[in-house]
Amino acid sequence: MPRVTVTRRVRFNAAHRVHNPELSEAENTRLFGKCNNPNWHGHNYTLDVSVEGDVDQKTGYVWDLSQLKKIVEREIVDIVDHKNFNLDVPFMKGIIPTSENIITAFWKILAPQVNPGKLSRLVLWETENNYVEYTGK
Ligand code: NI
Repeated sequence: MPRVTVTRRVRFNAAHRVHNPELSEAENTRLFGKCNNPNWHGHNYTLDVSVEGDVDQKTGYVWDLSQLKKIVEREIVDIVDHKNFNLDVPFMKGIIPTSENIITAFWKILAPQVNPGKLSRLVLWETENNYVEYTGK
């Protein structure tokens, strides 16, 4: 049976400050530059959620993408959109909100929700030029 990967793209915007409270102000500035701005800054994020699975004989689908959209909106977008990752998002509490940390947190939430099939890849775009990718390893 052919295995196919299907992907749903969602968008949200959110604010953050990349800051490690265990380091001095000077060290934070040196490491994170503008991203350490105390009064936050925002991004228009794009998140690609990919699910791999068998093509169902009856439907011809791996997964109904409208179902996937509902899950991603409920579990991720509704929680983070127009929010501040440092202040407003419970699952990022105490975690430096870099794209790397955000994407692994998203994975932990989404992976158990995708069944049958499996979550195979997340791609999080912070800007047009910068993205991170995670496959659960
Ligand atoms: Ni930033």
